[in-house]
Amino acid sequence: HGTSRVNEQGNLEIGGCDTTKLVQTYGTPLYVYDEAHIRSNCREFVEAFRKSGFAFQVAYASKAFCTMAMCKLVEEEGLSLDVVSGGELFTALQAGFPPERIHFHGNNKSPDEITMALDAKIGCFVVDNFYELHLLEELAGERGEKVSVLLRVTPGVEAHTHEYISTGQVDSKFGFDVKHGHALDAMRYAHESRHLHLLGVHSHIGSQIFETEGFLVAVKKLTELLGEAKEAFGFVPEVLNVGGGFGIRYVEGDTPQPAEAYIKAITDAVREELNARSIPLPELWIEPGRSIVGDAGTTLYRIGSRKEIPGVRKYVAVDGGMTDNLRPALYQAEYEAAIANKMNEPATEVVSIAGKCCESGDMLIWDVKLPASSAGDILAVPSTGAYGYSMSNNYNRIARPAVVFVKDGEADLIVKRESYADVISHDLLPKRAQLQR
Ligand code: LLP
Repeated sequence: HGTSRVNEQGNLEIGGCDTTKLVQTYGTPLYVYDEAHIRSNCREFVEAFRKSGFAFQVAYASKAFCTMAMCKLVEEEGLSLDVVSGGELFTALQAGFPPERIHFHGNNKSPDEITMALDAKIGCFVVDNFYELHLLEELAGERGEKVSVLLRVTPGVEAHTHEYISTGQVDSKFGFDVKHGHALDAMRYAHESRHLHLLGVHSHIGSQIFETEGFLVAVKKLTELLGEAKEAFGFVPEVLNVGGGFGIRYVEGDTPQPAEAYIKAITDAVREELNARSIPLPELWIEPGRSIVGDAGTTLYRIGSRKEIPGVRKYVAVDGGMTDNLRPALYQAEYEAAIANKMNEPATEVVSIAGKCCESGDMLIWDVKLPASSAGDILAVPSTGAYGYSMSNNYNRIARPAVVFVKDGEADLIVKRESYADVISHDLLPKRAQLQR
């Protein structure tokens, strides 16, 4: 996919860079992002919307991969940005991201986070609950300001995906419940508030969704709600946000739709439902995360030890694992792999790829067919661009890998590899011990 290919040496090349050279320069594990591929993923959504005739914003959900370089790229592509914490907001602002294109999500924003966002004059708060609605109104009121809000509602849709990453069902920690009338009450409250400017409503039904059906059910629920709000207090929406969740291919058998198919289905449904209710078409917003960066990222590892249990399994261990990719341990997520320095060799053995953490669950891939490998070979795991680096951690005091963007044969280091000094940089010895040193 993207600009990946096998070069004359039989090595995996991404963005014109030989991966075996990349690891010589930057070490392993290493996250490699194909910059052209990220940009083309951004443009697919934008193009699809242009065809639809809708006014739109594509907000990249930065939780999927949030670094200053990524925020910069997103800005250059003309996208907006969805942040969910003070940390993501800080990253975006430090990268010079235009605040008016930032949307602030989250189900428990703190007063400090809200204040930080008000100071920055971000474009919109996506309010999740009554506590936040009142808190935001109060903080905006103290400043004599009127802030734009979308209300996140729970439409009661079961997206067919892993339980932990499905969010649209009634029993969810997120959003105002539509079923029990909370969403309409919240809309009325925001609409009538002197310090809130209600733009419209938002829903996000889950992640890694292949079918368009869940989005269509959500659109139906959202537009019904807008119809009720129109009847009840004459509300005219300026924005309708249908969230993210567009699936990508991790392994054979995954069947995501092209961006255009999702957008066409959604825009057709929104047009039809709103026309039926004589509601003027608002701006349509989406929040893709995974589908922007997921298949543009590849992790490179160095293979180390091996354990063969005759008749049972061959374990091949790499120098990373659940510290750089938590998804297999957390969601039983599946990945494919290749030996980056043996791309032309036939796949002859079935092995299971183990991480290096002290945890039996730290397995990256079960039973993958690869060429014969030995210590020192480079294992490439594609489609690790979303929720890999962003969910990385220091378990076992393992230092986080470096991240590079590659393009046209050049690599750009965008996150430095952590050192052991970084790992202990916030540790303090107890006062008594400090005196003894
Ligand atoms: N908007 C909202 C409100 C969200 O909660 C999310 C993801 C997105 C947009 C972006 O969804 P995407 O397009 O990336 O599917 N850590 C999990 C995924 C959690 C997604 C959480 N919310 C994973 O690794 O699969």
